[in-house]
Amino acid sequence: MSRRGQHALLLLSAVVASLVPGSTAGVYHIVGAGKGWRVPPNKTYYDDWARTRHVSIGDKLMFLYRSGVHNIVEVPTRALFDACSMRNITSRYQNGPTIIELTQPGQRFYFCGVGEHCEVGQKLAINVVLVAPPPPDTPNSAAAATARLSRRAGLAAACLVAALLMAV
Ligand SMILES: *[C@@H]1O[C@H](CO)[C@@H](O)[C@H](O)[C@H]1NC(C)=O
Ligand SMILES: *[C@@H]1O[C@H](CO)[C@@H](O)[C@H](O)[C@H]1NC(C)=O
Repeated sequence: MSRRGQHALLLLSAVVASLVPGSTAGVYHIVGAGKGWRVPPNKTYYDDWARTRHVSIGDKLMFLYRSGVHNIVEVPTRALFDACSMRNITSRYQNGPTIIELTQPGQRFYFCGVGEHCEVGQKLAINVVLVAPPPPDTPNSAAAATARLSRRAGLAAACLVAALLMAV
């Protein structure tokens, strides 16, 4: 096979892999979205952010902050998190930005250990679930339509690559 043919084949397998349901490469979640990791405008800011996210195993949390200004400590329990207590830290990160890969299901508790930052709301509790969200079972929902659409677009791309493959 020619090099171009091999290239096209590689591309085709990549497209096919992306079509396989459940093949999630791991989503990057930028903690706090546009605000990054900082003293928030109010105490519920990171809670509100977390509530909008579906976080599963293999995903990564990106904490964007300047070293020395903020840091991240992880604690094992809700009680320690609620109390902003650093008595039992399981991990500490201080060189921003920090990317944390989530390899276990369950609740994770992070807060900033600088000054009173945790007390004023620079804290994140996030629930890591085992799998990506299942496809919605109502065929008429907008989400299902979007999923169908993106599958169709992927299929079209696969056909294009297949055509290219045959042409070489
Ligand atoms: C907290 O701040 C965010 C961003 O400014 C805002 O969207 C949200 O409504 C605020 N929440 C409360 C409870 O004030
Ligand atoms: C701290 O961690 C140790 C070991 O994991 C545990 O036995 C202890 O109960 C923890 N203390 C608190 C206050 O969570």
